[in-house]
Amino acid sequence: MIHPILLCGGSGTRLWPLSRKSYPKQFAKLMGEESLFQASARRLSGAGFAAPMILTGDPFRFIVTEQLAAIEQAPQAILIEPEGRNTAPAVLAAALALEAKDPEALMLVAPSDHVIPDAAGFRATIEAAAPAAADGRLVTFGITPDRPETGYGYLELAGGADPAADSPQPLARFVEKPDAERAAEMLAAGNFLWNAGIFLFAAKTIVAAYEAHAPELLAGVRAALESAQTDLGFTRLAPEPWTALPDISIDYAIMEKADNLAVMPYGAGWSDLGGWDAVWLESGPDDAGNVTSEHATAIDCRDTLLRSETPELELVGIGLEDIMAVAMNDAVLVAHKSEAQRVKEAVSALKERG
Ligand code: GDD
Ligand code: MG
Repeated sequence: MIHPILLCGGSGTRLWPLSRKSYPKQFAKLMGEESLFQASARRLSGAGFAAPMILTGDPFRFIVTEQLAAIEQAPQAILIEPEGRNTAPAVLAAALALEAKDPEALMLVAPSDHVIPDAAGFRATIEAAAPAAADGRLVTFGITPDRPETGYGYLELAGGADPAADSPQPLARFVEKPDAERAAEMLAAGNFLWNAGIFLFAAKTIVAAYEAHAPELLAGVRAALESAQTDLGFTRLAPEPWTALPDISIDYAIMEKADNLAVMPYGAGWSDLGGWDAVWLESGPDDAGNVTSEHATAIDCRDTLLRSETPELELVGIGLEDIMAVAMNDAVLVAHKSEAQRVKEAVSALKERG
């Protein structure tokens, strides 16, 4: 049995104005009729998978229960973090909760904001990686890189490892978010894969890794779990030990330091939808390269994204090239496609204005 652990605490500011503080991107219908969170939960369900454990913040707890109910799923637990402390404390809380029930339990930690179109293929890949996880490996999932992206972690294959194998491969090193020069070197070297940000390990293996590499997190997370309050099925981690924890991702706290890593290559399509340019690409542009939603019309446009999120607003573009326009009831974004990563600046600018 594999236990899906779904992380949904992030804010997704690069997908403003659809992604909001009160309604971040993983809960919005970015692609198709389901939210990314619902698609993630569904992808990790069925034979061989336990009900998911969800890690989120207090403002999102009812969105989580409603969206799971809508796809006829019941969570095994919803852990509420009093404040976001990044992924290292969150994953440890899930691991300790699971370890108390079954130390051998396998946990598949996944973000809830990725697009992986071939759900069945991805489940088969996870199952193929399970023996390595049961054998004490920290298994990552590796994507063939196609650009010197600095927003991802890189996985260096050990000598002789096959980056296209359908079984877990030994890893020499995990490099989280390199600078541009280092990213270009790793892309050119050819023996690196991107870290998909999805992990598979046994509860006791990851707890042991925290004991070895991040012991400063253990006592606080354990105390937050032991004094957790349960109400309406939510497990509220205790605020006092929790808010004193450092803000650190599992990539920096554990993966860069561990020596029992393995990578399962995955080649059938993955995107972390890091910006509107990725949404444009993943939505399948038409022959002219355009993506238009309902209530949006492109006239003589090329490589352009036009999305109206409301039936009250018709969005029309004429003669545009490489433009992204997203219209909501209360906000409109118009940006050049090459500036997709800067959309988060809109959120900071509006925040400053108050
Ligand atoms: N519950 C909870 N609490 N979830 C969180 C928190 C938190 O405090 N912080 C982040 N998350 C969730 C995010 O919502 C997202 O689903 C996931 O954890 C990963 O966090 P990101 O902030 O999106 O990480 P990243 O994209 O910068 O980097 C990670 O993912 C890349 C691939 O997309 C790393 O693992 C990289 O190595 C990897 O390449
Ligand atoms: Mg991310």
